[in-house]
Amino acid sequence: MTKIRKVVFPVGGLGTRFLPATKSMPKEMLPVVDKPLIQYAYEEAQKAGIEQFIFVTGRNKSAIENHFDLTSELEAIVGGKRKTDIMAVTTDWLPKPGTMAYLRQQQPLGLGHAVWCARHAVGDEPFAVILADDLVHADKPCLQQMIEAHTSGNMAAVMDVPREKTASYGILKTNGDAAGKLVHAKGLVEKPRPEDAPSTLSIIGRYILQPEIFAVLENQAKGAGGEIQLTDALNSMIGSTEFHGYRFDGVRYDCGEVAGYIEANVALALARPDLQGAVREKIAKLLA
Ligand code: G1P
Repeated sequence: MTKIRKVVFPVGGLGTRFLPATKSMPKEMLPVVDKPLIQYAYEEAQKAGIEQFIFVTGRNKSAIENHFDLTSELEAIVGGKRKTDIMAVTTDWLPKPGTMAYLRQQQPLGLGHAVWCARHAVGDEPFAVILADDLVHADKPCLQQMIEAHTSGNMAAVMDVPREKTASYGILKTNGDAAGKLVHAKGLVEKPRPEDAPSTLSIIGRYILQPEIFAVLENQAKGAGGEIQLTDALNSMIGSTEFHGYRFDGVRYDCGEVAGYIEANVALALARPDLQGAVREKIAKLLA
């Protein structure tokens, strides 16, 4: 088994569902409670043992690079205990110098294209992909669960979704016997209509991929939505490289849409000992 050392964060998307908030701010910088989505993704990868962090960015995404940098102006204006507190949230968790790389996806051609843009930075080894707008709240980080369960081939985190939602996801074609944690897929379809979906078992934004994916993505035709789809490339590899879905433990919040993002904020605030009392009170007042 090869150690998974690198993660790719595709963060080039335009975030149109969150306009006007995302007019000049990357959607990955939207905070859930008080931390941006991309920092949750980074912390999950770091806890899973990842050592190198590759961001595939686009125009107007410089706030992400700044977020993973020092904030000397903040540290300069405060001292004492206050400084220790500020350093803890701004600086102490930062990745080691030289472990982050930022690459541009020059055109938003799809998730498959974004991953392909990282081919030289990843090289010839298996790697992880995390989509920051799928926030997974779990005791053991979702990616760590996957790495522990992974033996070979390609893998993605999966969960069942209501059938009317299949057109938002990559869906697994299974052998019928799909009850265990590890589900072997016979095929994958990107965003099928509910009536065409081969199951309701859906990919959520965590992957462990073999480097052979890059050669497939190189020639991948456009698929659903006119985009180069990662799901299509994974599907065409199935003859030579197995694909497993992994049913993770934890709760996934869809922060790619406004209602899911609000749900994540409420849920994570209610899980925070320093906030839960006050937040519960305010929600009760609103609902009364
Ligand atoms: C992407 C993938 C899709 C997956 C989803 C999970 O779609 O293409 O297969 O199910 O992420 O969030 P997107 O949400 O970027 O349209």
